[in-house]
Amino acid sequence: VAAKANYSVVLRQRPEGVIAPDDLELTERPLPAPAGGQLLVRVQFLSLDPYMASAVQQRHPSGAVFPGDVMPAEVVGVVEQSRHPDFAEGDVVLTRGGWSTFCLADGDAPASGLQGILSAAAHRLPPPPPGIPASVYLGLLGMPGLTAYAIMIRTLRPQPGETVAVFAAAGAVGSAAGQLARLMGARTVGIVGSEAKAAHARDVLAYDAAVVRGGDDFPERLAVAAPRRLDAVVSNVCGSVFESVLWQLAHGGRVAFTGDVAQYNSREILPSPSLSPLLAARATMTGFVVYDHYDLLPRWREIACEWLVDGKLVLHEDLTEGLERAPEAFARLMRGETTGKTIVAVG
Ligand SMILES: NC(=O)c1ccc[n+]([C@@H]2O[C@H](COP(=O)([O-])OP(=O)(O)OC[C@H]3O[C@@H](n4cnc5c(N)ncnc54)[C@H](OP(=O)(O)O)[C@@H]3O)[C@@H](O)[C@H]2O)c1
Repeated sequence: VAAKANYSVVLRQRPEGVIAPDDLELTERPLPAPAGGQLLVRVQFLSLDPYMASAVQQRHPSGAVFPGDVMPAEVVGVVEQSRHPDFAEGDVVLTRGGWSTFCLADGDAPASGLQGILSAAAHRLPPPPPGIPASVYLGLLGMPGLTAYAIMIRTLRPQPGETVAVFAAAGAVGSAAGQLARLMGARTVGIVGSEAKAAHARDVLAYDAAVVRGGDDFPERLAVAAPRRLDAVVSNVCGSVFESVLWQLAHGGRVAFTGDVAQYNSREILPSPSLSPLLAARATMTGFVVYDHYDLLPRWREIACEWLVDGKLVLHEDLTEGLERAPEAFARLMRGETTGKTIVAVG
């Protein structure tokens, strides 16, 4: 992709199952011109997140994506042209743009609540901690990190000595959630899709144990990893593995349910698990949506920056270079083949 050209990735067709690179298409488009109050932003980093697959299936609260639409994304970029007095060329900002080399952002303060979170307002970013790329504002210091933090301090509240299981334990949210639960004194069990991710979870993210999801012996392997059962669970799936995990809940167990990544990969409505284990354990399951917790973002960034600098938190990104390679990176994310926060370096 040439440096000054403007390219976008659009949805070509609604996927049948797991999104494939061919469902998306790189197109050249006119460079957008900022109106009064707007900024032209040159995108540096693009966040790829599972919810985009749900938006493509027209089922996500952030809005539906239809064929021909530019794929939406949070981006970090540099102000190339400002028509707002509070922003200058060269400012580094976070905004909801799209899978594009350039996007427009609004310079005015966003409306509050969901409307504000989902607006195209520009948020000026402070420099990240030394040695850390600005893409961290899309991962650990952004929405996925905030998700993990809010789940831990508001929904699950793990106590020292409790056992916390985390689905997609090596992913963007999961890697932060597991590390936070350990820092809060819990025993942590990661649930992952491969042996390689299990090794990463144990060796890099310091989970006490990691279990590969699936297979007839999954319940037995989970019971070995969590001998005192599970006091708290962060879940992102809803199928049979989830049901096995529910059967391992301790009395009074808590579950934060954040979505169903398998459902995002399907047009069909997938079967739900039995809820009987919740009854047996007198457990609580909470539907968790990060949009309700953006008031915590400034505090979380402060804490996480400190812990990143102290080495208490490990940062891991799956970085792809080039907008033209974003479709393949997204397909890898949705096939469960990425580790850490999935980022595309655009320019
Ligand atoms: N509710 C909220 O507010 C909120 C906010 C942020 C994220 N989320 C949800 O949290 C989950 C994690 O998000 P993330 O951004 O951190 O993504 P991620 O964990 O980096 O990537 C998604 C992971 O899901 C796992 N997975 C489980 N079942 C899968 C399946 N059937 N097919 C493909 N992958 C599967 C894979 O890990 P393994 O192969 O290791 O299992 C994959 O790497 C997503 O479901 C997302 O929608 C919810």
